[in-house]
Amino acid sequence: MNTKISLDEITSFTKRRSFIFPSSEIYGGLAGVYDYGHYGVLLKNNIQNSWWKNMVLDRDDVVGLDSAIFMHPTTWKASGHLDCFNEALIDCRNCKFRMSANHLLEKFEINTDQMPLDEINRHIEQLKTENKLKCQNCGSDNLTGARQVNQLIRTNFGQPTLEPKDMTMDNYVYPRGETCQGIYLNYKNVIDTMRVKLPFGIAQAGKAFRNEIVARQFIFRTREFEQMEMQYFLSPEIMDEKFNYWKEERWNWYKEELGIPEAKLKWKKHDKLAHYAKEAYDLQYDFACLDGFNEVEGVHQRGDWDLSRHSEFSGQNLDYFDQKNNKRFTPHIMETSVGLNRLVLAVIDNAYTVEDLGEGKTRTVLKILPKLAPIKVAVFPLQKDEKLKGLASDIYHKLKKEMTTEFDDSGNIGKMYRRQDEIGTPFCITVDYECLEDNKVTIRTRDTMQQERVPVNELVCLIKEKLAV
Ligand code: GAP
Repeated sequence: MNTKISLDEITSFTKRRSFIFPSSEIYGGLAGVYDYGHYGVLLKNNIQNSWWKNMVLDRDDVVGLDSAIFMHPTTWKASGHLDCFNEALIDCRNCKFRMSANHLLEKFEINTDQMPLDEINRHIEQLKTENKLKCQNCGSDNLTGARQVNQLIRTNFGQPTLEPKDMTMDNYVYPRGETCQGIYLNYKNVIDTMRVKLPFGIAQAGKAFRNEIVARQFIFRTREFEQMEMQYFLSPEIMDEKFNYWKEERWNWYKEELGIPEAKLKWKKHDKLAHYAKEAYDLQYDFACLDGFNEVEGVHQRGDWDLSRHSEFSGQNLDYFDQKNNKRFTPHIMETSVGLNRLVLAVIDNAYTVEDLGEGKTRTVLKILPKLAPIKVAVFPLQKDEKLKGLASDIYHKLKKEMTTEFDDSGNIGKMYRRQDEIGTPFCITVDYECLEDNKVTIRTRDTMQQERVPVNELVCLIKEKLAV
């Protein structure tokens, strides 16, 4: 049986199996922030490495970058975030619960993305007169109108003695609200040092921070998260061609590298565009745990907004000189922007399976692609016997040099298999008494549960071969 997992189940499963923990749990938690345990980090790194290989290492037209989280504060004025990166919120006067206007109005099929505040408030007034608008927490209809809150988080920097009352717009700094701004600020450095010619891309992965009003849905929407973004600089004439090309590239990566079936993916065109966008599509994944399709990645045409604005605010010339056509212009940009944490959620959501084994027994198994699995192979001595343990330990140390490997000598084979199935380990190796005679071990494959006997000296090659499939 393939399984529809609820958000509560996925939250408790990922905690129980050391993938994801609520942040600061011993202090009661911190809303919208999560920590990653051992298997969570390994899975997240595997997804990120696959993206990096696909977007940078395997290509000749994209280079890498790792820019700082903090940038000069003018960055956010130039980017438009200080003026336009707002979310409308509504308070309940009765229970003080705070709601996102977007979430509250979407059930009336009103999409408030990029909607001016007075228009949002007109909808709210209308719904109030129809007695339809209620607090999502206590059901009261005593709600405020909507007000805009900027989504950039702000802090001060190098001025630890400054009291909040003394802060002005000039001495705030902002942990980046999107990673791509660091790419635009380094565009000139890359052009000057990397022998790149248009069209080319700059990619980076890293943390981003947003003052999400409503941080719900587990790791889907958090206040601290990781983005993997690629900004492709080009002349506007080839924008449509490259836009379609990159949409196809990204779609194929989900299919081939994340193992997501096409039926669970779809494109959604934005009808309302962000302040910088000229054309935008979301790649959506059909989350069982979120009851349907939700955005995991955006592919956007940003026009010449970014480089023109940074050129204007910095006073630096960011034009490109096309020698072949003897033409000078501001490059246009198309971006692919994906949330790494959302991908972790999508991969787990897609792979989580509860199988019926008959006689009232079930097993939970995380059927992730072997190349994404946190642990590739686990080695068990069948019993707590020093001879079996010694041989199993030798095999474990040999495999560990080549791939992520675990050793478990707790002795209960059923429990050991169950634990590895749940963390998605594709292969388990059992060392039994026969092995001491014939130097062969048993390999069990996660998905089929089939077992085969294999000579110890062929193990490394054989598992590597199986993992490459
Ligand atoms: N540079 C363009 C940009 O940032 P976005 O649609 O705001 O575009 C891109 O974000 C991706 O980043 C989203 O598709 C999503 O996967 C991820 N993301 C955005 N906000 C997030 C949040 N609060 N928590 C987790 N992931 C988020």
